Amino acid sequence: MRSSKQSPAATGADMAVAAPAEEPAGGVSRRSFLATGLAVGVGAGLGPLGQGAVALASGGSSNLTEGDAAILRFLAAAELLEADLWEQYNELGGIQDSELPGGKSIPAYVKALEVLDEDMPQYIHDNTDDEVSHHTFLNAYLESRGGEPVNLDRFRTLPSSEATGAQQIGRLTNLMQLTVDTTWWTRYRSSTMNPDLGGTFNPAVPGLLKGSFPAIPRNNADLGPEKHLQAIANTAGFHFATIEQGGTSLYPSLAQRVTDPEVLRVLLSIGPTETMHFQTWSDKAGNAPALTDPTNGLEFPDLNAPPFGGEEFKSNLIMPEPTIFLRKTLPPVSIIRPTKTHGAAMGAVKALTADGLFIGQQSAFFTALKEMAIEADAANRGS
Ligand SMILES: [Fe+2]
Ligand SMILES: [Fe+2]
Repeated sequence: MRSSKQSPAATGADMAVAAPAEEPAGGVSRRSFLATGLAVGVGAGLGPLGQGAVALASGGSSNLTEGDAAILRFLAAAELLEADLWEQYNELGGIQDSELPGGKSIPAYVKALEVLDEDMPQYIHDNTDDEVSHHTFLNAYLESRGGEPVNLDRFRTLPSSEATGAQQIGRLTNLMQLTVDTTWWTRYRSSTMNPDLGGTFNPAVPGLLKGSFPAIPRNNADLGPEKHLQAIANTAGFHFATIEQGGTSLYPSLAQRVTDPEVLRVLLSIGPTETMHFQTWSDKAGNAPALTDPTNGLEFPDLNAPPFGGEEFKSNLIMPEPTIFLRKTLPPVSIIRPTKTHGAAMGAVKALTADGLFIGQQSAFFTALKEMAIEADAANRGS
């Protein structure tokens, strides 16, 4: 799907950010942008990643501030990464169809996922489809406004699962050595703490923070014993929510520094779909059966029994608990948390890296991602 919407990476300095093969309908094409820029004696000003000066020199209605372009570029990159990981889940545990044709589900893995909810394959498919639409739209939108689309194809170098059913293609993300932070579980159940006001939170599954674990079968040997495969499905179930709560915070955090009302509309329209994903997955994760993986000791606790249970862990408390916001003198309110804008993009990079998603990636990948995050975090309203 992605390859039909993006051109292969270009060569040389423009490798990380390449122009798509087709011009967006009704928008300002890169070709005309470049031609315009050169015609007035102002080059595109491409930096080492082929990005950089993105505002049109002529300043018409189709330009973007550098800050807005940087925020959109970072989000496009984040969505490309999100889509890559979701595609891997869909290949083995979702639904392969005309929208998402890659891979072939592993019945035993699907069965283990369905312990969390019988509709898991459909939800995995639809979340994947949403992420593909997010990066496709953001890149097309960037282009329509005279900006540079983001292309990470040169970094699709990580191995696929060797399990029967996985496509053997290069990946951007690694789902086979995850260290999953499940503190969102208690963060959204707390009525007294907010990460933006210094709150810290206990993980729902402490074991997932103490090692690295697969969320998809790494090979056919991972299909047993039964509790091992269920632990892999449980890991996936929690990881789904970990990823989507990140998007839930990222969009409102970055929206605070957007300048153009239409760019703001883009962020405010995509961001809440991440929240819809998160809400779904936070409900399903609560159905992950308590067990210990006999192969590595990873324990999934009973979240409704001591020492867990109560307000902080009870699995049917899936709506955000009202908590402190902005100042402790204000009344508690049900909100997304965190939403602090300072350093939000780099915070997302750090969280995804700590998740183990990029294990095996080359240093140029981290350089490119961090550069985009630094530029997004440098954005200010009005500039
Ligand atoms: Fe997304
Ligand atoms: Fe998402």
